[in-house]
Amino acid sequence: MAPRIDPSLPFPPLADLHHKHILLGVTGGIAAYKTAEIVRGLRRAGAEVRVAMTPAAGRFVQPLTFEALSGHPVAHDMFAPGTESAMGHIHLARWADAILVAPASADFMARVSLGLADDLLATLCLAAEAPLFMAPAMNRAMWRHPATCAHAAALAGRGVALLGPDEGDQACGETGPGRMREPAQLVLDLAHALAGGGLLSGLRVLISAGPTREPIDPVRFISNRSSGKMGYALAAAARDAGADVALVSGPVTLEPPAAVEAVRVETAAEMFDAVMARAGWADIYVGTAAVADYAPAEAETAKIKKHADRLDLALNRTRDILHSVAALPDKPFVVGFAAETDEVEAHARTKLEAKGADMVAANAVGSGAPGGFDRDENALFVCWRGGECRLPLAPKTEIAHRLVRLIAERYYAENTDQDP
Ligand code: CTP
Repeated sequence: MAPRIDPSLPFPPLADLHHKHILLGVTGGIAAYKTAEIVRGLRRAGAEVRVAMTPAAGRFVQPLTFEALSGHPVAHDMFAPGTESAMGHIHLARWADAILVAPASADFMARVSLGLADDLLATLCLAAEAPLFMAPAMNRAMWRHPATCAHAAALAGRGVALLGPDEGDQACGETGPGRMREPAQLVLDLAHALAGGGLLSGLRVLISAGPTREPIDPVRFISNRSSGKMGYALAAAARDAGADVALVSGPVTLEPPAAVEAVRVETAAEMFDAVMARAGWADIYVGTAAVADYAPAEAETAKIKKHADRLDLALNRTRDILHSVAALPDKPFVVGFAAETDEVEAHARTKLEAKGADMVAANAVGSGAPGGFDRDENALFVCWRGGECRLPLAPKTEIAHRLVRLIAERYYAENTDQDP
């Protein structure tokens, strides 16, 4: 069956963890407050979650938080009366299909590396035969300390999967490696490692992004305000959902997401060629690029001097990439974008038909619009033949995740024989 998707969920992960028992270990670190998001993400992905905390973790977050979010009592005291009869530590260790310790402090990594079993969580890690994942989180100097490096290497050598840490701003005010990996990413990492896979596993997704530049002369061009943020966020989300991703991008200042084939182009004609060359490879094409509709009929080879009082530029229509992909005999599932200043929903429906697309995602742009060009947030009206959905204003990374889920659902609805 196709994965069922509810795009109205606050931050649906792209992972599938149905029927998995995940034991989530929390150790003492400031990142422990983010672990609440991991519990929610794991449950949304279908997992059953039990939480075990070290005594230090309880100084940062109350067990009650995790009890409420997981729907089960939190294991934190090895010697609490009744604990062993309810679900003893050996039983809990056997119950788990995987253990994720997030955050994993330097102290906890050291203790597990040495095989110490001096609190409940460390005991569970020692007693369990299920795969063990750790998301280290600590100050950058602690992470780089030779003792921590030795423990991390020993754990990895014994098959413990270290997820992160990431680089970035730290709670202590410093910058460097040691940040806990983001909760949504940890949920995805776990899903991939446990072979539940992603929503787009095995599919090839081609995305166009950014503006194009149409040269007038060697120093001037016609372009637009597109930043490429939406397309780049979609490329990362599709990759996280397990797809092979190719990203054809006009000139932007963004770094392409890791593990994505990035193709840089400048003009609408170059983008046309790059997309059409890959359209046969793709199962899904998403045209987020703001392609110039008109380009100078001829680019001057020398800089135009300002001799005349008036200058007329002759422009030719560019070819419509989306329409051309949708017209291919063996076309991929085609998703168009529409940036509109007015009548967003009506224009989106018109473009769906006019371009022969399978889905159109439209947003309001211009003064007063909350999202869109060069903003970090966006809100989308998404339509297809026979349905529509509104994705309310949210960061573009989040909108990208929701849209990927919607695309996956529609893709499988139209390719029912290709259900995963
Ligand atoms: N598009 C395209 N090739 C073009 C122009 C647009 O592939 N030459 C694609 C965009 O990538 C987007 C969709 O068409 O997915 C809609 O783009 P938009 O600029 O909103 O619409 P236009 O077709 O250009 O129509 P108009 O400017 O009249 O609104």
